[in-house]
Amino acid sequence: MTDTDTELRVNKIRSGTVIDHVTAGEALHVLAILGIDGTGGETVSLGMNVPSKRLGKKDVVKVESRELSQGELDVLSLIAPDATINIIREYEVVEKNRVTRPAEVVGILQCPNRECITNAGEPVDTDFSVLDDGVRCEYCETIIRDDLTAHIDV
Ligand code: CTP
Ligand code: ZN
Repeated sequence: MTDTDTELRVNKIRSGTVIDHVTAGEALHVLAILGIDGTGGETVSLGMNVPSKRLGKKDVVKVESRELSQGELDVLSLIAPDATINIIREYEVVEKNRVTRPAEVVGILQCPNRECITNAGEPVDTDFSVLDDGVRCEYCETIIRDDLTAHIDV
């Protein structure tokens, strides 16, 4: 059985983005990264803990009529390193890319240090360098190791 066979649990979409091979259990964090909480009216389908040949179990997030920014993809890669980003147009997969772990993440994350320049109301984007086990603020050197999605600036 291929991944696609098992995914027929979740309908195919006409256009938008399918984020496939998401680490099992991370689908809601993926939505947080995308800033989707349901109030924006987007059509979203989720598969959680569905069987996957490659990963054993995986999550799948399908967002209609929406593509992802590089900043979103960068943070996504940190919580779902095996994710595949499929762009769908007229029901066809027109582009398929793996996420790649970036050297730094600009924007999206918020520095937990209240004294940090990025929290001072200045027009400064956050900028974190990516470590093996977390991310480090380039301005104040604060390190975030756990629960990255709790630090998403939405
Ligand atoms: N998909 C979808 N709607 C479409 C086309 C595809 O929701 N109109 C989904 C599929 O269900 C799958 C993903 O997009 O989750 C990728 O589709 P496809 O490349 O056809 O599947 P696979 O070959 O299994 O992908 P991979 O090789 O990346 O595992
Ligand atoms: Zn900082």
